[in-house]
Amino acid sequence: MSVHTRLVAGNKEDTEAWVRAVHVGFLRLQELTEEDLATRQARQDFSRAAGVFDGDRCVATYKSFAQEMTVPGGGVVSSNAVTGVTVTATHRRKGLLRGLITEDLRAAKERGDVVSALDAAEYRIYGRFGYGPTTSAVTWRVDVTRAGLDARRTGREGEGGISFLDAAQVREIGPELHERFRRTQPGAIDRDPLFWDLHTGAVRVGSRPWELPYWALHRDADGVPQGLVSYHVTHGRRGNLDTAELKVGSLIAATPAAERALWLFLLSHDRVTTLTAELSAPDAMLPLLLPDRRAASVTEDSDFIWLRPLDLPRMLEARTYGVEDEIVLDVRDPLGLAQGRYLLAASPEGASATPTGRDADLTLDTTALAQLYLGDESAVRLVAAGQVTAGRAEAPVRADLLFRTGRRPWCPDGF
Ligand SMILES: CC(C)(COP(=O)(O)OP(=O)(O)OC[C@H]1O[C@@H](n2cnc3c(N)ncnc32)[C@H](O)[C@@H]1OP(=O)(O)O)[C@@H](O)C(=O)NCCC(=O)NCCS
Repeated sequence: MSVHTRLVAGNKEDTEAWVRAVHVGFLRLQELTEEDLATRQARQDFSRAAGVFDGDRCVATYKSFAQEMTVPGGGVVSSNAVTGVTVTATHRRKGLLRGLITEDLRAAKERGDVVSALDAAEYRIYGRFGYGPTTSAVTWRVDVTRAGLDARRTGREGEGGISFLDAAQVREIGPELHERFRRTQPGAIDRDPLFWDLHTGAVRVGSRPWELPYWALHRDADGVPQGLVSYHVTHGRRGNLDTAELKVGSLIAATPAAERALWLFLLSHDRVTTLTAELSAPDAMLPLLLPDRRAASVTEDSDFIWLRPLDLPRMLEARTYGVEDEIVLDVRDPLGLAQGRYLLAASPEGASATPTGRDADLTLDTTALAQLYLGDESAVRLVAAGQVTAGRAEAPVRADLLFRTGRRPWCPDGF
């Protein structure tokens, strides 16, 4: 196999070949339109897009870009976000992905990125490169007819109100609200402005039919936008009876009051028999709001965003911790980019992480650290499963008191 790798930025033929190859790789070539190609050329950042070419043909694609991820305590870390990872079926399992990702992670480390992140198409691809699942997402399903909500009591006094927005208003209000939301939500990332154009119909991609969703905004009592939801409703019949399924597209809330108000608003629609919400927060307050909590169930629960440590001290120092304590972490890295033994001296105010010769409390690889970092996984559980080694019996419990958080991390956006 004689192939060579090059950056495609600044070359129209190369970027077109790259976009086509992404669609071939994801088995979605039939969805690509000429309009798409033009939109992607105009709106997407190809500065770190690499292609592997076999002659004129692009047979592997890979792109990274700068992103921010919120961590517990409200800080953010610079992340090397990875996307567009494909290898054409004719060239798979010959090491093309390995070549692209190891080179990109080396460059990200050199640039000073703190972590790398991606959403993984398949579970078994990225652990070998030091990534681990760090946020999960669920599908909620609510049998609205069973929930028992009183439709007259969906809002609380003094907690503002809800209004519908048209597409232009969403584009005006949405980005600023999302900026505030994502800083309150560990695991959330900054959103590409293209999101708002795509989800309001200003820009269309793909050949599949598209319909403008309903967009509803929650403003607090001072009139400040605090929550935004999009949804579609589809109608059906069960026997002689009409049914309607309300499908939530995106729900973001910068305050608990806004989250509460939006769920109650969605559940108070007349005629709606079922609500579903995909890629939702795993600990959304949704069931707690229902007189009959059994009406809500999680029908799917999966890993979503994966994280890969690159700079251990800056990563550990970026977040706050549940209690004041010290713990020694000995981190192993399959690619040798983020390893070493560190004393983490942590508290609810912040932390320092310094190299140490002390005995390790926990010995773990970067995949396990990624799972613990945002508070979603338990060190006790990982030790029990044999995926983390405890140097002292009490170390996993102390690690959980440090790392775990009251509410779970969540990222509403794939990329
Ligand atoms: C996933 C994909 C990019 C892998 O590319 P590739 O060039 O075949 O991967 P490599 O040959 O570099 O494989 C590197 C290692 O990962 C393993 N691997 C790669 N893809 C894997 C998969 N889907 N499942 C399990 N292991 C996988 C390989 O076996 C190899 O293991 P080894 O180092 O122990 O030998 C390619 O199969 C693909 O394009 N799939 C469809 C699109 C997709 O899902 N992309 C991922 C988006 S997040």
